[in-house]
Amino acid sequence: MKAIEIRNKYLNFFKNKGHKVIPSAPLIPENDPSVLFNTAGMQPLVPYLLGQKHPLGTRLTDYQKCVRTNDIDEVGDNRHLTYFEMLGNWSLGDYFKEESIAMSYEFLTKELEIPAEKISVTCFAGDEDCEKDTVSYEAWKKVGIPDERIYFFGKDDNWWIAGEEGPCGPDTEMFYDTGKQKCSPECNPSCDCGKYVEIWNNVFMEFYKDKNGYSKLKQKNVDTGLGLERMTMLLQGKETPYEIEIFEPVMKELEKLQKNDFIESRRIVTEHLRSSIMIINDGGRPSNVDRGYILRRLLRRMTRHLNKLEIDLNKLPEIIDVSIDSLHELYPELNENREQIKTVIIAEKDKFMKTLKNGEREFEKVANKTRAANKTIIDTNAVFNLYETYGFPPEMTEELAKEEGLKVDMSDYQKLFKEHQEKSRQGVEQKFKGGLASTGEMETKYHTATHLLNAALKVVLGDHVHQKGSNITEERMRFDFSHPVKMTDEEKQKVEDLVNNWIEEGIDVVCEEMSKEEAIKSGAECMFIEKYPDMVTVYTIGDFSKELCGGPHVKNTSELGHFKIKKEEASSSGVRRIKAVLE
Ligand code: SER
Repeated sequence: MKAIEIRNKYLNFFKNKGHKVIPSAPLIPENDPSVLFNTAGMQPLVPYLLGQKHPLGTRLTDYQKCVRTNDIDEVGDNRHLTYFEMLGNWSLGDYFKEESIAMSYEFLTKELEIPAEKISVTCFAGDEDCEKDTVSYEAWKKVGIPDERIYFFGKDDNWWIAGEEGPCGPDTEMFYDTGKQKCSPECNPSCDCGKYVEIWNNVFMEFYKDKNGYSKLKQKNVDTGLGLERMTMLLQGKETPYEIEIFEPVMKELEKLQKNDFIESRRIVTEHLRSSIMIINDGGRPSNVDRGYILRRLLRRMTRHLNKLEIDLNKLPEIIDVSIDSLHELYPELNENREQIKTVIIAEKDKFMKTLKNGEREFEKVANKTRAANKTIIDTNAVFNLYETYGFPPEMTEELAKEEGLKVDMSDYQKLFKEHQEKSRQGVEQKFKGGLASTGEMETKYHTATHLLNAALKVVLGDHVHQKGSNITEERMRFDFSHPVKMTDEEKQKVEDLVNNWIEEGIDVVCEEMSKEEAIKSGAECMFIEKYPDMVTVYTIGDFSKELCGGPHVKNTSELGHFKIKKEEASSSGVRRIKAVLE
């Protein structure tokens, strides 16, 4: 079965069980600098898990594009991926454990036709925060999983939370038995020898964790996640994801073009290329900070390994084509952005190639010096210099070091990096002393205009409108919001008029401090509730706008001038983008 068929089966199955299919949110959660990429299907749904009503109801299903950056340097082995697709279904205070488990079991055994005896499951063993999950245990027994294939584990294995704070709960995980020998008599699903492969995780989210501990959420939710590439690999009886149709054509192409044979390098190129394509497709661009830096690392590591394979880099456009061709059944939108994706990748490759050779030479010198001094750890200043002068991300120097039996002290590097950052920050502040504030008058006005626009869109288009991102410069504002279709001219005019009416009315912008709980109760809107501290600022304008926000804002709407929509266009599927100015 191909990946696309598994995805379609999944969405159809849950559709038939009363779920509404929602589009994948973009990979890049704009306006939330604390999260680089969406890492799970639940991430864009957090407000609804906390109790906000979803316009499409209490049963949802989707595929979500995800990137996990923790394991970039593990890519090259036979399983780690940075980009992956997660299939998910959610109950927002609707069904709970028993029904969720019954559906999962039915999907695995009836739709995917996985033999029941290949499935083992794990449940939460219980501790001082939450009781043993006997309900899931009973549900598994009821569908027919025998005792010997049901395991109980503690928080390390059977508890799920994204990060440190947020909605969370015990989970039950499903494992596929590959049929390999047990590595020891104790071998069980928590062992990663490869006999058991996790295929699905159903999280029963009824808790919220913050630094004071756990509390109960308003509603009991189900959040499940099934990794598409892994499931495809297992159903096709492959040993690694690189053998499925998403990756294999690129692996083959590289094999054809290479002069040196390194399977790890081929995997790194194949994987990093796909992740980069997906990130660029959703608007990511290489840079030295945050997401841009991750993309830069992926592209530079890819380039180095292309070099290691001694592949002619002029062939890169063709390799990108092969990758996009193998992905475009899953993501038809890639075709539209094909040329742009190529341009970004090739520009970054060219930039890096200018320094790669010299950087490698410099690295060899540093490595020799380290050995000559009978040391194994490379001088951190040299690591820093390799980044500053030759564009070698420290993780790359670390990888090069590893290949030569040497090490980089990453925590020492981080310290040195922070010191340099602090120095340049002081320099910048020095420059701005004398009155130039970092958030200028115009930006402040645009902040407030953003709240007005958000409220006006809800009035004109409906309550399904939610902010998906925003970006403000001195000259303009950009606002992304959920809405399935292009706005009509009439709708745009209505929104514009409404905002301008509110401006003319001269309404006070009221700022209050309150606890996060109070804010949610009061119906304040926000994009990423879990990212806010316990005490939050809520800005209220009239009786139509209430949002959690860090500000700054003007004191009265009359300060804004005249609001004008310049453009309304698609941002990603299900998300529209408005560009507007204050005149
Ligand atoms: N949030 C859970 C996970 O990422 C289930 O979707 O595994």
